[in-house]
Amino acid sequence: MSDKKAKRPLVSPKTQALLDKRARAEAGGGPERLAAQKAAGKMTARERIEAMVDDDSFEEVDLLVETKSTDFGLDKKYLAADGVVTGFARVNGRPICVYSQDFSVMGGSLGLSHAMKICKVMDLAITAEVPVVGLCDSGGARIQEGVESLGGYAEIFYRNVQASGYIPQISAILGPCAGGAVYSPALTDFIFMVDGTSHMFITGPEVVKAATGETCDFESLGGADTHSRLSGVCQFVAGSESDCFRQIRELLDFLPQNCHEQPKAAMASDDPRRESEALDRISELEPKKSYKIHEVIWEIADGHRFFEVHRNFARNIVCGFIRMDGESVGVVANNPQVLSGALDIDASEKGARFINFCDAFNIPLLTLVDVPGYWPGLEQEHGGIIRRGAKLLYAFCRASVPKVTVVLRKAYGGAYDVMSSKHIRGDVNFAWPCAEIAVMGPQGAVSILYKTELAKAADPEKRRAELVREYTAKFASPFQAAKHGYVDEVIEARLTRPKVIRALRFLKGKKVVSLPKKHGNIPL
Ligand code: HXC
Repeated sequence: MSDKKAKRPLVSPKTQALLDKRARAEAGGGPERLAAQKAAGKMTARERIEAMVDDDSFEEVDLLVETKSTDFGLDKKYLAADGVVTGFARVNGRPICVYSQDFSVMGGSLGLSHAMKICKVMDLAITAEVPVVGLCDSGGARIQEGVESLGGYAEIFYRNVQASGYIPQISAILGPCAGGAVYSPALTDFIFMVDGTSHMFITGPEVVKAATGETCDFESLGGADTHSRLSGVCQFVAGSESDCFRQIRELLDFLPQNCHEQPKAAMASDDPRRESEALDRISELEPKKSYKIHEVIWEIADGHRFFEVHRNFARNIVCGFIRMDGESVGVVANNPQVLSGALDIDASEKGARFINFCDAFNIPLLTLVDVPGYWPGLEQEHGGIIRRGAKLLYAFCRASVPKVTVVLRKAYGGAYDVMSSKHIRGDVNFAWPCAEIAVMGPQGAVSILYKTELAKAADPEKRRAELVREYTAKFASPFQAAKHGYVDEVIEARLTRPKVIRALRFLKGKKVVSLPKKHGNIPL
């Protein structure tokens, strides 16, 4: 463990030997390579840790570890700290474990000793029951160390899976990460990328060209935009490394240290009884008029603050963290401005993963429903919407954290069931007066129910309008559902925040006893 404050006027030869060894190891790949790292707009591995953790809180372990490999002349090279800085520290006053790969040392490539250093801090994190953050900047398995580096990766993967759902695991991709360097992050809970300097891929552009003939560059293959918007591999994009570390600190603040703890409550910063005229205005809009779901979330949240997860991917569903009366809450909301808020494959997978995370770490769920159904079409059916859309249903059904649901407007068909309905054990379910809870919308329902009558009608359009009015009055409301107790209360929109806070306070002691089984079989 390093002790940076140890500056004595006179040191013994043995202590001097230690200080020299330390200085050599801390110098990474040397001034030239570190300068190249900075020229590429990146911080060094050590600067990154300093920037992310609380001041003067980092304690390094294994600084003096070296590679044992002798192949390809590795025994003649000095690989400082074997290319990775590892240790423990504090973030927002709470302990975490951290590792930071050093691209200046053989491209941050992972040899066996490098892997074992990462495994050691992962084991420490599991033992101490604290989150682990990986700062990744690596060319993947160190080619010279052959199967030992592959084995090293597998040791990390195994630990990622053992730690999954036990402690939060966060990865930041801060350079070109290839091969094994992307699979460990993929097994963690959240991936951050930095716009312009982060890249993730299984094989680089040259291999892609050779294998498939496709032409691409780093950015189109695996840049932050590609992975945040198209593939959904990364949940967060930062404008700079400093911004990335600020976001990681903010995320950690919403989370508990492990699956046994509740998230740490913040000092309540907003009136829990605050009403909202803006929500009344949204609830009074014409049913076909769209609105910004973020506005609803901001109105409900403490201090109007929303920390969105996966912002650029599957924007028809919106997920993220807010605080309500100081407590951490996971929000899942349909977004009527994208695909009318319908559920498709990507939205189902995005929502399911977020719900699974919240459930694993005792973060209650608030579901805001405005959904016309599942998105139809050949592309979705052939892509497996049945199998993959079922993930969202599975995740909501399995989640045993407190679940509060508000039907804002539409809740049609199967999507009504899926979005944390009472039937799949929503604990407290509200609806706004403008909510429409039915098998389908009025136009579709009238077309099916009155097909023959409309075909024969003297004035089909006039008759259709009458039938739509009738159907709307009877079914396109929250009152049928309320009559059956499928919503617990129809509430004025302005009261949403106080009502949800009261429900969440009430549900704090919720306990669910699951069936004794090894584990369920989520449709993967
Ligand atoms: C050994 C490596 C290395 C690696 C980079 N280096 N990757 N050394 N093993 N995997 C070394 C380079 O030789 C170079 O050393 C230094 O790091 C910097 O690399 P550059 O290529 O100069 O940097 P850059 O141009 O920025 O390109 C970065 C890169 C590229 C995109 C990461 O180096 C690259 O494509 N590397 C190989 C990536 C890869 O295919 N990895 C997959 C490994 S297999 P010198 O001394 O010349 O400066 C794998 C499978 C795991 O990971 C299986 C898990 C399921």
